[in-house]
Amino acid sequence: MNSQQMKHINEDSTLFPTYKKWELTFESAEGSYITAADGKTYLDCMAGIGVVNLGHKHPAVLKSVEQQLHKGWHASNFFQYDGQEKTAQLLTEHSSGDIVFFANSGTEANEAAIKLSRKYTGRTKIISFVQSFHGRTLGSMAATGQESIHQGFGPMLQGFEYLPFNDVNELESAIDEDTAAVMVEPVQGEGGVVPASPEFLKAVESLCKKNGALFVVDEVQTGIGRTGAFFAYEHAEVSPDIIVAAKGLGNGFPVGAIIGKKHLASAFGPGSHGTTFGGNPLAMAAAQATLETVISEDMAGQAAEKGAFLMEELEKKIGHSSKVKEIRGKGLMIGIELHEPAADYIMSIQKQGVLMIGAGPNVIRLLPPLTITKEELQHAVNTIASVLNTN
Ligand SMILES: Cc1ncc(COP(=O)(O)O)c(C=O)c1O
Repeated sequence: MNSQQMKHINEDSTLFPTYKKWELTFESAEGSYITAADGKTYLDCMAGIGVVNLGHKHPAVLKSVEQQLHKGWHASNFFQYDGQEKTAQLLTEHSSGDIVFFANSGTEANEAAIKLSRKYTGRTKIISFVQSFHGRTLGSMAATGQESIHQGFGPMLQGFEYLPFNDVNELESAIDEDTAAVMVEPVQGEGGVVPASPEFLKAVESLCKKNGALFVVDEVQTGIGRTGAFFAYEHAEVSPDIIVAAKGLGNGFPVGAIIGKKHLASAFGPGSHGTTFGGNPLAMAAAQATLETVISEDMAGQAAEKGAFLMEELEKKIGHSSKVKEIRGKGLMIGIELHEPAADYIMSIQKQGVLMIGAGPNVIRLLPPLTITKEELQHAVNTIASVLNTN
């Protein structure tokens, strides 16, 4: 690309143009609303892409981070931190895992899951699924089953295989004695909001067990109450070996984690894996307060109830539209698949003051804060209906 073209793409910015940015400058946010620099306020039905599950500037998270801010920010992972132990306890008490490694993001947590799987099993093959998304670093990108994400960054890390999603027979044929792990999103998020069937997740679990591979669930987008359970794998009543979390874990403060079964500890001994910032005291203050609130206020239950309401209202208002192919999802993670590209509709909805995001070319994705009210959801549905029905 020559400098002329570059200028055209990103004329006034000093940033790499990795994001096609909206004409919206963030100013402040509170609860379910974001205010832009021009003073206009938006109902946030994307929660920073499934991150701000408790709403913006949640008072408990704010207070916890503020208190830690005054105590100190960083001392290194050679120190013991109460915040790490308490946050890890909350995660293990509410999952099938027993021990935690903290990272700074979803992709980094997935890197840890890939490395742990290879080291523990002594095997190389990682199976993931077509249209999956696991992140942008070399390992997580290699695990991502989307050709467009790999483009230009080759050669890809070796040992990754992509199978059709929700297809038990294909998995049965591909999994073998060299398989270190099967990585699966319980609901594919970036790939278009496509839920894994409970039967498929059960089959992943049993085939992993039979072949000595680890069962890894990427709950970066689905976790922390989003789908109506604390982790989405619970809907299928399975017990993964490694759970990957990030996004909603710090309610906007960058933090990621893997939660693994106890026997995996032997593969991650001193010197095997590490991070300067992972488990940082500020991140732990945010994550601990987030988890305490999500648990004590039953945000997963709220997501289930509000999600059912949202689904019902969407079916009522736009289910009949000739533009709509399917409305699907779980809890407050919902995709509206259109018969045509979704981008222009998302922009029209934004102009009406409601924020949503795409998932693949044809899907409008809703990931509102789990604290959103039914009135606010109703307003979002009415806005979608008015845009779809008039354009
Ligand atoms: C399922 C899943 N895994 C991993 C990631 C990567 O997370 P991060 O952007 O924090 O690196 C994402 C981000 O969208 C995701 O949805």
